[in-house]
Amino acid sequence: MQTLPPACPKLATIDATAALSQPCDVLVVGIADGNELSSIVAQMDAEQGGWIQRAVQSGNIKSKRGEISLSILPVAGGPSLVMVVGLGDTDLIDRGKAFELGASIVRRIVDTRKARVVIAMLDQINAETHDAFVAGTVTACEGQALYQGESPVNPPTTIEFVDIAESAVSNGKIVGESVNVTRRLVNEPPNVIYPATFADAATKVAAETGLSIEVWDEKKLRVEGCRAILAVGGASVHPPRLVILRHRGGGEGEPVVALVGKGVTFDSGGLSIKPSEGMLDMKCDMAGAATVLGVMRAAALLQLPINVVGICGLAENMISGDAYRLGDVIETRNGLTIEIHNTDAEGRVVLADALDVAIQHKPIAIVDLATLTGACMVALGRDTAGLMTNDSVLCDQVAEAAEHEGEWAWELPMFDFFDEQVKSKVADLKNVGDGRWGGAITAAKFLEQFVDKTSWVHIDIAGPAFADSPKPHRDAGATGVMVRTLVRWLQTKEPS
Ligand code: BES
Ligand code: MN
Ligand code: ZN
Repeated sequence: MQTLPPACPKLATIDATAALSQPCDVLVVGIADGNELSSIVAQMDAEQGGWIQRAVQSGNIKSKRGEISLSILPVAGGPSLVMVVGLGDTDLIDRGKAFELGASIVRRIVDTRKARVVIAMLDQINAETHDAFVAGTVTACEGQALYQGESPVNPPTTIEFVDIAESAVSNGKIVGESVNVTRRLVNEPPNVIYPATFADAATKVAAETGLSIEVWDEKKLRVEGCRAILAVGGASVHPPRLVILRHRGGGEGEPVVALVGKGVTFDSGGLSIKPSEGMLDMKCDMAGAATVLGVMRAAALLQLPINVVGICGLAENMISGDAYRLGDVIETRNGLTIEIHNTDAEGRVVLADALDVAIQHKPIAIVDLATLTGACMVALGRDTAGLMTNDSVLCDQVAEAAEHEGEWAWELPMFDFFDEQVKSKVADLKNVGDGRWGGAITAAKFLEQFVDKTSWVHIDIAGPAFADSPKPHRDAGATGVMVRTLVRWLQTKEPS
């Protein structure tokens, strides 16, 4: 397996004079609407004959946000390359856009290894966004091509930021690396990441960050009555696990919030087998659990003053003589019985037990994350997460955190009449709705049965967790979506 957490460049702060006095491989400056340039440009242009100003006046360098011009400098001693980045209207650069800018800039220069990159444009954007910008630069240093002889992503050795607070660098680095921990686990192939190796990776993260961890193996799962998780994982040679991570930032006796993740390390569909095209990307089906691990890592390293428990339900959905069947009735950990109508609706079965473990910790709120339904992608598209809840106030908090970080999330209704659709003629519940209509919501209605009366938000990340094609600010493959949102949400939950 590859190393965790992924290699990150050394990040540092530097002042403008020092930045210009030493050679570097790339100097990054900005151009905002009105042709306003980073303050460092005046100083540099004075030494270099004013070529940037001339290029701007001639219209060869544009201020449109995201436009990037890269010039080779035939001047000894200065930067080898100057990158001029279009910033557009800088008042519109919020945390989401800053994250994307940071990532787009670094992604443009990782084709070859560079020793020293200096970013001297942060004077032009709101200081409140600087840590998000830094996080973006870090995520650009990790791609999905983990097993190519020649890596297409070559992170620079050092990135230095001019006009930035030390705390923005350190916090941005923690969040960016945590997003990458999530992405790495999702991008690893399913022959590398299965329940036991996911648990190993979590154990390593816990050891490095001071999180406490408990790993339930198949024996312990039996003792604990996690029959639903065991049923889904029953056909795999890689038995299920349940991982419990704890961050105790809030002190003894203070309330705890719970994060719960679907960790299906590969989803073949089971006996309700998926067609090949639908199966190829199903290594991504543990993205919910990987997101929980990424957020827990960040909570520990940022020392958030709040108690958080993170629970990952891990199983591989395969086919063998031990596979769970259609028509099987499973008694879940909380005693409710489920009749299996489709073995490909396995995520909710795993989460049934994982949510029951969560409520045992008496949390004041539960957020679960799952690549749960294709129906959610039909409803909201590939880039938007679906939110479903039994507590609209809590849901609004999560939606606000997503908006603040520039991640897309939208609430779907949980009208009472959907309740009927998860009732079985044989058992308490069945694991699919009636037909495919409203499939994201009927899945959430099923989950709701396992949270008791606890305030709860379910985030269906089937669309945004894994991307088909790259964008300027990110590679295709795992996106690490919702790590930044949930870190923000935990920060707003801190006692004031
Ligand atoms: N893991 C899938 C959902 C999924 C689909 C995630 C595409 C990411 C991309 C889930 O386990 C599943 O198969 N859901 C079924 C449920 C159905 C059988 C009720 C689905 O959405 O088709
Ligand atoms: Mn499935
Ligand atoms: Zn699945």
